Amino acid sequence: MSVSWPSPVVLAPLTKGGTLPFRRLCVGFGAQVTCSEMAYAHNLARGLGRELALLRHHDDERCFGVQIAAHKPELGAEGVRIALEHGAKWVDLNCGCPIHDTVKRGMGARLLQRPQTLAEVTRAMVEAAGEVPITVKIRLGYREGRENAEEIGKRVQDAGASALIVHGRTREQRYSRAADWEAIGRLQRQLDLPVYGNGDVITWYEAEHRLKISGAAGVMVARGALIKPWIFQEIAEGRELCLDGPARIEVYHRLATYMKDYFGADEIGRKRTLFFLSWHFGFFCRYLPLPRETWEARSLEHPLMQTRDASPSPHQLDDPLEAMLADGDTDLHRALAELLWASPSAREAIEAASALAQQRRDEGTAPRSAGRVNSGGWG
Ligand SMILES: Cc1cc2nc3c(=O)[nH]c(=O)nc-3n(C[C@H](O)[C@H](O)[C@H](O)COP(=O)(O)O)c2cc1C
Repeated sequence: MSVSWPSPVVLAPLTKGGTLPFRRLCVGFGAQVTCSEMAYAHNLARGLGRELALLRHHDDERCFGVQIAAHKPELGAEGVRIALEHGAKWVDLNCGCPIHDTVKRGMGARLLQRPQTLAEVTRAMVEAAGEVPITVKIRLGYREGRENAEEIGKRVQDAGASALIVHGRTREQRYSRAADWEAIGRLQRQLDLPVYGNGDVITWYEAEHRLKISGAAGVMVARGALIKPWIFQEIAEGRELCLDGPARIEVYHRLATYMKDYFGADEIGRKRTLFFLSWHFGFFCRYLPLPRETWEARSLEHPLMQTRDASPSPHQLDDPLEAMLADGDTDLHRALAELLWASPSAREAIEAASALAQQRRDEGTAPRSAGRVNSGGWG
């Protein structure tokens, strides 16, 4: 049984980033297939509240999947049962997490080195899931030069998985290399199950191009969505939205409102919202307009996500609001999060942000570079 998702574009599992309010924001921009943050099956089985909270989804998420990390078949099966109780429409097995603690305990990318265990966990999950599809998210391999995605793909297919999701790098490579979409294409040709490619997509024309060269069934987007949650609409419509500063503040304010809804408007809710929202500005500040006419040729040589050339233009930095929104300073990110929390409407948030930007310009505050796209510990 293959997955039958309503869209070929999937929002990736994103620890810390893919909270319910953020996913709700992406759904508003057309994301139809969403996924939880990674949840540890053993913590779900122990009934840990913090872990179970990761399984909650918004009513607007119609095709919500839960990603679990497990290293034993019985834990995989238990994770599936709990995910289904929480309304998951599909369940993914994480076989890509590079974080030391996870790998050390035999989960995440470690499973790529234990194909037999990976297959057993997948099979147990498929049996526990009944009609609900199980997917497996892998990397090309654990070590460079020892890529084994083909072997893993075949085992996963034999175990009854409904799709393979492939991040086109090894665990060792982290984010240092461009994702290898040719390798993703080879896998799609070698396997009978749908392969969803993942890696470096930040524009609609890159999504289109990567799908074309690989023949993959679909594309999963991670950092592209963190930088511009409207990427789903761009891919669906085949055009760049080019949101200016005030339009972006409106989007960020919507996220703040969704967080207030979800975490609560009290002091605890405020603390949580400020924590997550400031973190999001670490990605929002990397936004750049990347119109196809200017950037497509470059994107064919090297993914725009990875390019060093894509820094704000002098013209963009002339505008105090644009300059402030491109600033990588974490104190500023905290101040922007507080500003959004305190603004009752998007209009007021735009006014307050514009005033702050002008003040910083008048005071001659030097902006900090956002640097290259980071990974929040995932690479
Ligand atoms: C902040 C952050 C959190 C992530 N959390 C997860 C996770 O929980 N599970 C997972 O399988 N991958 C996780 N990833 C990896 C992404 O899902 C994705 O595979 C990777 O970023 C490559 O896609 P991209 O180039 O579109 O960013 C995370 C990545 C980032 C940047």
